[in-house]
Amino acid sequence: MEKFVVTGGRPLEGEVNINGAKNSVVAIIPAAILVDGPCTIENIPNINDVKTLISILKDLGAEIKFESKDTLSINSQNIKSYTATYDMVKCLRASYYLMGALLGRFKKAEVSLPGGCDFGFRPIDQHIKGFEALGAKVKIDHGVVKLEAEKLVGAQIYMDVVSVGATINIMLAAVKAEGTTIIENASKEPHVVDVANFLNAMGANIKGAGTDVIKIKGVPGLPGGTSHSIIPDMIEAGTFMIAAAATKGDVTVKNIIPKHVESLSAKLVEMNVKVQEGGDYVRVIGTDKIERANIKTLPYPGFPTDLHPPTSVLLCLADGTSTVTEGIWDSRFQYVDELKRMGAKIKVEGRIAIIEGVGKLSGAPVKATDLRAGAALVIAGLVAEGVTEVYNIRYIDRGYENIEGKLSKLGAQIVRK
Ligand code: EPU
Repeated sequence: MEKFVVTGGRPLEGEVNINGAKNSVVAIIPAAILVDGPCTIENIPNINDVKTLISILKDLGAEIKFESKDTLSINSQNIKSYTATYDMVKCLRASYYLMGALLGRFKKAEVSLPGGCDFGFRPIDQHIKGFEALGAKVKIDHGVVKLEAEKLVGAQIYMDVVSVGATINIMLAAVKAEGTTIIENASKEPHVVDVANFLNAMGANIKGAGTDVIKIKGVPGLPGGTSHSIIPDMIEAGTFMIAAAATKGDVTVKNIIPKHVESLSAKLVEMNVKVQEGGDYVRVIGTDKIERANIKTLPYPGFPTDLHPPTSVLLCLADGTSTVTEGIWDSRFQYVDELKRMGAKIKVEGRIAIIEGVGKLSGAPVKATDLRAGAALVIAGLVAEGVTEVYNIRYIDRGYENIEGKLSKLGAQIVRK
């Protein structure tokens, strides 16, 4: 089992390039199942979730190859199977996108309920509500979601909760349906927009992505033959911004869309950290006196839940007591016990973490309990006195490309062992 060994105490300095967004690419690769011809996807991050999805699509019968390090060509024409078994999907939450994509393509899909990061109950009722509204019959049988429709017909669907996954999944199922589908109370995340842009580039007719009403006019086919570039990963960008602030460093986070990290930039400024924004970068300059802050995670454009654990590390170093209220997931506080082992003073009450600034952390062996918790522990290691060993780094490899290489280039002492 691999681990990261981090020796803390060095400010991060320099420039870091951000890769394509994990939460975009994990939807866009399944979306390629709907495309009738070849398609090319650029800016693919080299992360384990991508490797898993490529092998799932190959198992289904797609032809996939890397044209270059980060450019993938996919031809789904020869896919005959509409079944994704538990073995195929167990490591990947986003495998739920196979439901919408296979249903949209074959009017039939059998997909085992997904695995992925565990931070409490992760229902898919809104996905199912959408599929049913489009005319599919859905049943869950021995852990397998079975979907079947004689035909898919556009419908008006009001989402009870703002869900990234359900919004995208309904888009996938509706893209070739008869008539128009309207999703109301849709997720406005940048990766919803990215998936819509990909599908439109392939021949779909989707309008309104990025607002809370998305209109999808069904088209008979998606001819494809074009290419699409994945947007930069705002969570990877945010992780490096927080790492820069926590280590009191000076880091330019490049190849990003600054607007996508605005909620974080604003909080950093509130915490007395300097943030300079350019066209496709932000520069974060740390401070000796980090101010306390209160944060609540919300759907985009609110503060992202996926940056909650890394932000908590920063707040451990602040002057005074801060709070983080988790507004998306029931249980995203498993990282707290690990941080406490490094000297953090955090009390969790329901969905609120009350974080007392302690000024410094001390190195300890800790284990990642999910992807973003893992990133938080790496940041904690970077600021801690002494050596921190981060175990369970397979979670981190699911979503960050070469995090140790990028941090080392910025001056961190981190090795994979
Ligand atoms: N929800 C329902 N019913 C549903 C779907 C969701 O009640 O049918 C609830 C969830 O329980 C949660 C809220 O709605 O309380 C939001 O869930 P959402 O569906 O938006 O989450 P997701 O699509 O499963 C994606 C990201 C997560 C990120 C969330 C929120 C992917 C593959 N995953 O999950 O990313 O935390 O949106 O922004 O896109 C990560 O990258 O580490 C990660 C976990």
